Amino acid sequence: MLEQFENIKKEISKDLKNVSDAEALLKVRVKYLGRKDGLITKLFDDLKNWDLAKKKEFGAPLNELKKLAETLVDETEKQFGVTQNTAVDFSVQGTPVLSGHLHPITLIQKEIEKVFWGLGFDIQLGPEIDSDFYNFEALNIPEFHPARDMQDTFYLDLALPKNQPGKHVLLRTHISNMQVRYMKEHKPPYAVVLPGRVFRNEALDASHEHTYQYMEGFVVGKDITYANMAWTLDYVMKEIFGQDVKTKLLPSYFPFVEPGAEMAISCLICKGKGCSVCKQTGWVEILGCGMIHQKVFEYAGYKQGEYQGFAFGFGLSRLAMMKYGISDIRLFAENDLRFLKQF
Ligand code: DAH
Repeated sequence: MLEQFENIKKEISKDLKNVSDAEALLKVRVKYLGRKDGLITKLFDDLKNWDLAKKKEFGAPLNELKKLAETLVDETEKQFGVTQNTAVDFSVQGTPVLSGHLHPITLIQKEIEKVFWGLGFDIQLGPEIDSDFYNFEALNIPEFHPARDMQDTFYLDLALPKNQPGKHVLLRTHISNMQVRYMKEHKPPYAVVLPGRVFRNEALDASHEHTYQYMEGFVVGKDITYANMAWTLDYVMKEIFGQDVKTKLLPSYFPFVEPGAEMAISCLICKGKGCSVCKQTGWVEILGCGMIHQKVFEYAGYKQGEYQGFAFGFGLSRLAMMKYGISDIRLFAENDLRFLKQF
């Protein structure tokens, strides 16, 4: 028996001398110490059947043999096995990690928010599903008023929650629906902008989407004037499009403002010379605005004539198209990476 142990010792040493890589070393380990068929493991399995005398005589030497085998294999592993297996190979190419970035509409939204924030405006959000009361009626657009047709509305087949004024539930067509909601909850003076999505039942084409990004804003106080509005909007446009951009206010009609106006900016594509984007006029209409109608204040519960204010609303997509020179509004929602990666 002892002779057999000696032979195994010699054999291990010989095998280990011939080992040249980690794989071969693993084979040696399995040959002697493998859980199922290892030579030494098997001797331990036999041990159970030995009589007491034999156990006493050979038990200890067998244990020693096992320890020795483990030490020898471990030491050889230290020489090269470990270093070969776990060393980091700095020449191996990594897998590129794709990092995301902000959508162009979000970029311009953040930029505009920053400008308004700098002027002291609050930034708020509002509900996308609302009643026709806030979306129309409270804005001086009663039922059957032709101005409801100015905006093709998605009406929802839902019941209005109890105690909510109005008749129908709809997807907001603009964020002007937040005017009276906000006015009811806040006491002037205040200045706020509200970005978000609006929905219109429009046929899609290069400049119309059924869902698009919009920003509403209004300022209310005791002595807010049309001149404050003109200055504010001109300032914001210059911050976004550069100091060279020109702005002008044209008379317009929205039932919730009096007087109402539209702001046009000098076309950035042709620098005002005239091109297809500005229909050869040199100007592009970019937002609606005006002095808040006293009727709207009345819906908010303010006393007639106590406050004045101006309001404005514009499509963020339209601004982003101007700023980045994009000719088709549908690109914003298509999620084509070739488009998005340019921002
Ligand atoms: N809500 C209007 C629209 O969607 C834009 C607008 C015009 C908003 C005049 C205003 C405003 O606040 O005063 O076309």
